[in-house]
Amino acid sequence: MDKFVITGGTRVNGEVVISGAKNAALPLLAGMILAETPITLTNVPTLKDVKTLIDLIKGMGITIDKKGDTVTCDTSTINNYYAPYELVKTMRASILVLAPLLARFGQAEVSLPGGCAIGSRPVDQHLKALEAMGAIISVENGYVKAKTPEGGRLKGCNFTFDMVTVGGTENTIMAAVLAQGTTRLENCAREPEVVDLANMLVKMGAKIDGIGTAYMTIEGVEKLNGCEYSVVPDRIETGSYLALAMMTGGDVTARNTNAHIMQSVLSKMTEMGADITTGDDWIRVKMDKRPTAVDIRTLPHPAFPTDMQAQLMTVCAIADGTSTIIENIFENRYMHVPELNRLGANISVDGHTAVVKGVEKLKAAPVMATDLRASMSLVMAAVAADGETTIERIYHIDRGYENVEEKLRGLGVKIERVKG
Ligand code: UD1
Repeated sequence: MDKFVITGGTRVNGEVVISGAKNAALPLLAGMILAETPITLTNVPTLKDVKTLIDLIKGMGITIDKKGDTVTCDTSTINNYYAPYELVKTMRASILVLAPLLARFGQAEVSLPGGCAIGSRPVDQHLKALEAMGAIISVENGYVKAKTPEGGRLKGCNFTFDMVTVGGTENTIMAAVLAQGTTRLENCAREPEVVDLANMLVKMGAKIDGIGTAYMTIEGVEKLNGCEYSVVPDRIETGSYLALAMMTGGDVTARNTNAHIMQSVLSKMTEMGADITTGDDWIRVKMDKRPTAVDIRTLPHPAFPTDMQAQLMTVCAIADGTSTIIENIFENRYMHVPELNRLGANISVDGHTAVVKGVEKLKAAPVMATDLRASMSLVMAAVAADGETTIERIYHIDRGYENVEEKLRGLGVKIERVKG
């Protein structure tokens, strides 16, 4: 397994070009299955998770290819509706192929997902919503088997999600766009990536009202066509590089991004003392003092995102004062805490709450990445620490950060990948 060796003590400076969002690209790729004519997606990041989903779709006989940041797809060659465990187990978002297959072809067999070890992460809401639309679903030998009654279309329904779920909302929208009649959804996720999916579906011919709100009304249509669509910028990648500037008293400008979709993160950074300026497609963070401690609660969008929790906790680790962090989305998302403590942080966890007592300086140590965003928090800590830090199990970071070493080096970080 590859590892990173990072020599700390650099003040990061410069510009970084942000990629398309992983969490938008995945539902958009799944959404391509709904198109009856060829469809093209641009600004698609080159990431392990993206490759996994493309391989999964290819396995169904669909013609799909990625060249540079462009994915083209022609579904006319599809010959099966099956998503095997071997691929699905590596990435939870694979469950997003369930609704498009079912809505368009009347059948699907998808393995139950694996993914990051950040909690139990069931898919009950996805299945409940599809059942409310008339799907006949059984779970056998770890596979979800779903079909429509007599191979016909799903039916519009009224459905309220028990909790705000990003993937659950995305799967349900993809089912409803081809269902017979009207679907009214309540308590929908409002994440920018859900909005991106809905916008692409509208471009394909779907009829959706209430995009970006908790209440969506979808009028089913008989078929959807291809289109050309560009993936929204990655707000989590953006936030990670800006947080790195805050760790090191640096000055970083993120380009090809969008400040409007990450206000909660930018507000927290401002509260911590960052000097932030923004333009149409860029954000600059300057930090010339030690960050100030803050309190953070993760909640669904537009509140503070769980995917930025580990990175801002790392900034809190060197802040002046004591910060309190409450993780409300996932029950097991503090696995980076023992690793940060190995690097000299002073963090204690009690249930959903982490108390972070800021220290003046972190110190290098061997550590291990535990999940995707946690791996970036360890990179940030290592860049700020005195000495040479080795980070093992960095395959996690390759799932979600495009060209991460190149981008970090561009900002002045001393980083080497040691092949394992
Ligand atoms: C997506 C993001 C992930 C982010 C998360 C929350 C992608 C590919 N991944 O994950 O990076 O951390 O949103 O913003 O977009 N839940 C249920 N039953 C369900 C579905 C979810 O109990 O059927 C629970 C989950 O266990 C979790 C919470 O709801 O506690 C939120 O999960 P969800 O929003 O569905 O996350 P994902 O879509 O998996």
